[in-house]
Amino acid sequence: MNTHICPSILNANFDDLENEILKIADVSDYLHLDIMDNKFVPNFTFDFARAEKIIANSPISVDSHLMVLEPEIWAPKYAAAGSASVTFHFEATKHINQTIEAIRSNGSKVGLAIKPNTSLEEVIDYLPAIDMLLIMTVEPGFGGQSFMEDQMPKVHRSRQAIAKLAPKEILLQVDGGISDQTIQTAARAGADCFVAGSAVYKSTDPKQMVINLRNLAQDIVN
Ligand code: DX5
Ligand code: ZN
Repeated sequence: MNTHICPSILNANFDDLENEILKIADVSDYLHLDIMDNKFVPNFTFDFARAEKIIANSPISVDSHLMVLEPEIWAPKYAAAGSASVTFHFEATKHINQTIEAIRSNGSKVGLAIKPNTSLEEVIDYLPAIDMLLIMTVEPGFGGQSFMEDQMPKVHRSRQAIAKLAPKEILLQVDGGISDQTIQTAARAGADCFVAGSAVYKSTDPKQMVINLRNLAQDIVN
């Protein structure tokens, strides 16, 4: 399994994003872009015009994580803007198949996210149609929260469900509280794609932290 490290710029300096992204670009797999609408979650990050510029100017592929209502409207726009993948929340819409199709037909890979209180069983039938399953390891909305270890059984069962669908490849992403203290726990449970926000951007050397996180996760996988 390949380890993917995706720094989230949620806790980076929003006034100097170009340099913040450059710090991690050549050691990271994806830039994780958190989009919050102050409706699905009680926080707001970027409007579409600003997000579009970030995606267009990013030196690495962008993994857009939409924490927004009506993803069936927004997700295709983020795909058309050039995101490598667009992830939306199962809890945010009744139009799951429509949203999956709209992302794909606009050229992006498809991610489906679930909050801590949503079970794997609710989304398991969608696995064949997606490229990435995101298990949230905090309540979405804010960076810097504590890793929820109680989500690990869900990660483990997701890994088993994904293995059954081989040779189809589906990334298993975790997001929230991932740090050098927690990444191995998530890797052991079966995650292969790791979002890290404050661990990277509150570190004195973000680039080195990405390298450390990758090595820690890879040690478990090997
Ligand atoms: C939380 C966001 C995360 C957040 C992670 O709602 O989806 O991507 O940036 O930040 P940390 O790594 O600080 O928990
Ligand atoms: Zn995120």
